[in-house]
Amino acid sequence: MEYKCVDAGSRRCPCVLMEAGQCYMCTMSRTGKCGCGAEWEGACPYTEYVFNGPKTDGLLKPFGARVSEFVCYSDQLKVVRLAVPAGFAQRCRVPGSYVLVESLGCKVPLSVLRSWVRPGVDEGGFVEFAVQPAGPKTIDILRTDAEEWLVSGPFEAGLCGAGRLRPEEPLLVVAKGTAIAPYINIADRVKARLLVDGDKLNEDFLRDYTGEYEPVNLSGEMERVATATDNFRQIMFLASPYYTEKILEMRPDRKDDIITANHANICCGVGICGACSYTDKDGVTVRRCKCEV
Ligand code: FES
Repeated sequence: MEYKCVDAGSRRCPCVLMEAGQCYMCTMSRTGKCGCGAEWEGACPYTEYVFNGPKTDGLLKPFGARVSEFVCYSDQLKVVRLAVPAGFAQRCRVPGSYVLVESLGCKVPLSVLRSWVRPGVDEGGFVEFAVQPAGPKTIDILRTDAEEWLVSGPFEAGLCGAGRLRPEEPLLVVAKGTAIAPYINIADRVKARLLVDGDKLNEDFLRDYTGEYEPVNLSGEMERVATATDNFRQIMFLASPYYTEKILEMRPDRKDDIITANHANICCGVGICGACSYTDKDGVTVRRCKCEV
């Protein structure tokens, strides 16, 4: 099976997996033999790694981002806005962007809900997140007295298949709860029919962040969702793995047309912890926080 790293060629490449001899894209790091061939274009991450030490630049350093707004939509849903450098806000607009927030000595991955650069030179920008207080880490970062968050990123693997998105073509979006964030982040750049299961969202949030949408209840209406997919060439399905597997079972022939949420595969998000490890039938183990088939 051929794998592709979402970070290949980015400022996060080469990464700790190159140091560990486990880079998915570089056979040189794994076997000592280059498999790229004459058609390879662009900089070689392995050469960069060797010239650098051999070592990588390590992990992205977290920085303090000021909490500039905190909106409480309900006990189950808050939106936090951070003031960030303009370049960071700009990079957060990439489809599938998420950041890591330090909490209780661990990190919380959060999908970007919306981000924008303030007009004017060097005025910085903002990035927003919809957060549910689901456990100790999210409860901690939602303390109302928190003046800043320690964030690193942005990372781009929040969607599986984001590279297949064709913004000029109509898109069907099916979303449940706060998993809707990656769609809202690109809503100004796509034309979508939107089906929303409002689990833990509320009317005020949906009014503020979406345009027209059709309510749907995924637990009882998957047949309706599957029928809707038949009218679109590209679909974004943003829900838990349970429903994602269900739609892929109902429409197995549409696998390459469906962009899905990757949040269930993101823990450390940088290829270290192994929580997202997946071993395929050939015995190849990859980290799904960085890796796409
Ligand atoms: S989430 Fe930690 S290695 Fe992928």
